[in-house]
Amino acid sequence: MDRNKLTILATADLHYNIGRSREPTEALARRVCATRADALVLAGDTAGADWEALRDCLTLFAPFRGRKLLVPGNHCLWCQGQEDSMTRYRQTLPAVAAEADFSVLDHEPVTIGRVGLAGSVGWYDYSFRQRSLGIPLEFYRAKVAPGAAAYYSEHRTLVARHAEQLTDAHYDITARWMDGQHIRLPITDEQFVAQLADSLADQLSDLAARVDRIAVFMHHLPFEQLVPRARPAKFQFAAAYMGSAKLGQVLSAEPKVRYVVCGHSHWPARQRVGHIHAINIGSTYTEKHLEILEMDA
Ligand SMILES: [Fe+2]
Ligand SMILES: [Fe+2]
Repeated sequence: MDRNKLTILATADLHYNIGRSREPTEALARRVCATRADALVLAGDTAGADWEALRDCLTLFAPFRGRKLLVPGNHCLWCQGQEDSMTRYRQTLPAVAAEADFSVLDHEPVTIGRVGLAGSVGWYDYSFRQRSLGIPLEFYRAKVAPGAAAYYSEHRTLVARHAEQLTDAHYDITARWMDGQHIRLPITDEQFVAQLADSLADQLSDLAARVDRIAVFMHHLPFEQLVPRARPAKFQFAAAYMGSAKLGQVLSAEPKVRYVVCGHSHWPARQRVGHIHAINIGSTYTEKHLEILEMDA
């Protein structure tokens, strides 16, 4: 191994709580543990609401000798019982991760040599919504497309408020974004994105004073160029929940950011966005991908 280079392994969307994700995750973990890489980053959706599934997944990486890092995904912030997502994000998840020697990049950026590693769950503010669908913003905030809103009684008033604008084509879109059922945040999605953008900007300026190169790991997508194109209609509504342009602006403003690696869409992508190599890992429920970053130490 070239000691003038750092090797950073990254994967995402292991979804270890889902049966068909288990065997491919275990195969990926064996592959990771056989390397002598300097760091491993799990870029979100490692498991779901169930803490035991997360513990079991993180334990698969126990033999790995490098730094063990993660950022949460939206599924990692799904709640059970009386939990709320902000407490999971700020307290419970970091504590569970620490039991397995993982630290959460959102709260603790890392330097290795002259390289800085920063991270964020990222989130969505509907800036990537497909405007050609013509769905009013209020439906995105409620996380239901008009066809689904018409079906569920709790959204009857939402449909009534927009009835004059809605067409048959709108009612044909029956998707829901399930964070609407499982995420409990005390602030709006737009406010959460604003908080995350401030925190990421602070991390980057702090790291930039101390390192030459920065890699950022984010669950949601920071650039519209990474949003999957030409997918079936039922996925078009979901584009709104892929990420936020505001977080991309924070990355683009820091010249030392070399890479951003994300997940979430389950759709691989590689794009050069200005000075940044943007990579979507693209793991699916049954196929887990490993990205190997080599950076000058
Ligand atoms: Fe996922
Ligand atoms: Fe996700």
